[in-house]
Amino acid sequence: MNLAAPSFRIAIVGGGVIGLSCALEFARRGVSVTLFEKNELGRGASWAAAGMLAPAFEAAGEVDAHPRLFELCTASAKLWPSWAKRLEVDSGLSAGYDGTPAIAVSTSRTDLNQLQTLARALQERRVDFQRLDASELRQIDNSLSDRVSHGLRLPTDAQVDNRATIAALVRLCEQSALIEIENRELNLSIQEGVLSSSGFDATLVCAGWQTPHLQTVINGAPSLLETAETSLACVEAYGGQMLAVGRDADSPTHTIRAGDLYIVPKADRIIIGATVEPGRVLSEPEALVIENLQQRASDICPSLGHAKVREAWAGVRPGTPSHAPMIGATSVAGLFAATGHYRNGILLAPITAKILADTIIEGRTSKLAAAFAPAGFIPEAV
Ligand code: FAD
Ligand code: GLY
Repeated sequence: MNLAAPSFRIAIVGGGVIGLSCALEFARRGVSVTLFEKNELGRGASWAAAGMLAPAFEAAGEVDAHPRLFELCTASAKLWPSWAKRLEVDSGLSAGYDGTPAIAVSTSRTDLNQLQTLARALQERRVDFQRLDASELRQIDNSLSDRVSHGLRLPTDAQVDNRATIAALVRLCEQSALIEIENRELNLSIQEGVLSSSGFDATLVCAGWQTPHLQTVINGAPSLLETAETSLACVEAYGGQMLAVGRDADSPTHTIRAGDLYIVPKADRIIIGATVEPGRVLSEPEALVIENLQQRASDICPSLGHAKVREAWAGVRPGTPSHAPMIGATSVAGLFAATGHYRNGILLAPITAKILADTIIEGRTSKLAAAFAPAGFIPEAV
């Protein structure tokens, strides 16, 4: 199929970081796109995220993760600087990229064990990192508490202000002559294993955690998309709560990871997160949870204990059991999926868009991309 021909059109369902990045990449390759978003563009998980681009912390040391997740994350992290630069040049807006390496620290025996596991995993993968003692840590970031005893500097792990990235993506999609934005759902209909969404040559579903539950008429009967493409049943909701406090002269200057807690400085605020709550579709944060996160952050950086809370929020990650995204053609002819990006959807946006443009438009799939094809995701038997 020559999708690069001017008459070909791709539908995208879901305008989060994944849908927006794909729409832009398809348009850059000369293909017309209609992007369907039922709410506000970029206000789902992509807005709720902390914006860490963290292959080392999020993928290298994860015991049960997909065997090639770290490789995928690293490949996307390498795309980020030039991808962000091009977003900035084309949109005239900041994309919010900040390449300052993150540091991982420990204040307890459990965190120290986790650091050691991570250091071993990085060594095995020959990934560059540095071990830091207490005084070196405080030289790098003097907001750290005296209780912080050991740390790792992770040159692979950068960050971005994801809300700035979203704003740049939205502007470029709105300005593109090849992208039409529809503020509604697309009626999906599957007949004998073939998708018919009238007028489109291919349809990409990237509706985050809601992707399996997209309303679909299957062989004439109302149903859910996961009934036709069973790999989607692997995708679950993972709620997350976080807060942001004001930034001042005593605030941390580096992304700091300590066990499951993180502190991420942005230009005008400090983000503190996050919970990971399997199966919870959260729309609002809970006061006690937010208080607890701030309290734990103050054990790492004491100045955060009395910082004024500017905002607290909740979001829902789309996750699979192997923490890997599914990206590519489904078993339904004409239907492609990109979901399940779990804790790495911001990091993985550039590579996801590239994989899908290569697959749908150019008809080629790399070996790395093939490892994340929906067919490889088998839902657990119930
Ligand atoms: P979303 O951003 O949720 O977008 C999906 C869109 O689909 C939504 O706009 C929704 O309205 C729309 N939609 C749903 N149903 C329909 C329909 N029927 N029709 C039309 N549109 C529909 N990732 C990182 O890389 N780094 C981080 O530091 C990070 N921190 C995070 C912290 C938290 C608290 C959370 C919750 C997530 C975090 N993530 C992080 C993960 C990241 O945010 C997600 O993996 C990513 O945003 C998923 O993007 P998405 O486009 O698939 O989903
Ligand atoms: N990547 C951070 C989070 O998902 O909380």
